[in-house]
Amino acid sequence: MTNNIILLGFMGVGKSTIGKQLADVLEMDFKDLDDLIEKEEGQTVEGIFELKGETYFRSLEKSLINSLEINNTVLSVGGGTPCFNDNMHWLNGLGTTYYLKISPDKLAERLWVKRKKRPLLKDVKSIPELEQFIDDRLRDREKYYMMAENILDVNGKASCEILEDILKFVKKLK
Ligand code: S3P
Repeated sequence: MTNNIILLGFMGVGKSTIGKQLADVLEMDFKDLDDLIEKEEGQTVEGIFELKGETYFRSLEKSLINSLEINNTVLSVGGGTPCFNDNMHWLNGLGTTYYLKISPDKLAERLWVKRKKRPLLKDVKSIPELEQFIDDRLRDREKYYMMAENILDVNGKASCEILEDILKFVKKLK
């Protein structure tokens, strides 16, 4: 059995924030797949999307996941990672997967202020448009997210409560 924890879910749900806190508490390493891609390419995710396109970005995600050698690590992956190239099967093999599930309206609130950093949101002009985008994407993506071993409802929860919820699962596995 692996001793890694994989956090996944829609962009803006807080995977990296929670991941860092979890790694701290459990004395594990923390890695973020987008950061790893940026390091390898010497380019931001926005830059990669703009210069080389989404398909190229998805191929980077795939090859990194397939070649990752991690141990005692919390890994957070991009919102789209589980939904392409059969990545969910790889992620489930790499560690215990947790889907951080949140409602579209809460996501819209969180993402509106952070949308500039998300290449997929660059053309979104209003909150209703953002809500529509989230609804459409979630409808496509949720079937992949639901392949995670554990599903955590994080609606209305502060990061410390989410952390406690994950820790309960982790303790059960020990
Ligand atoms: C994406 C989510 C982003 C990043 C890229 C694509 C997506 O990661 O990988 O912009 O397709 O949902 P976060 O979920 O960390 O924002």
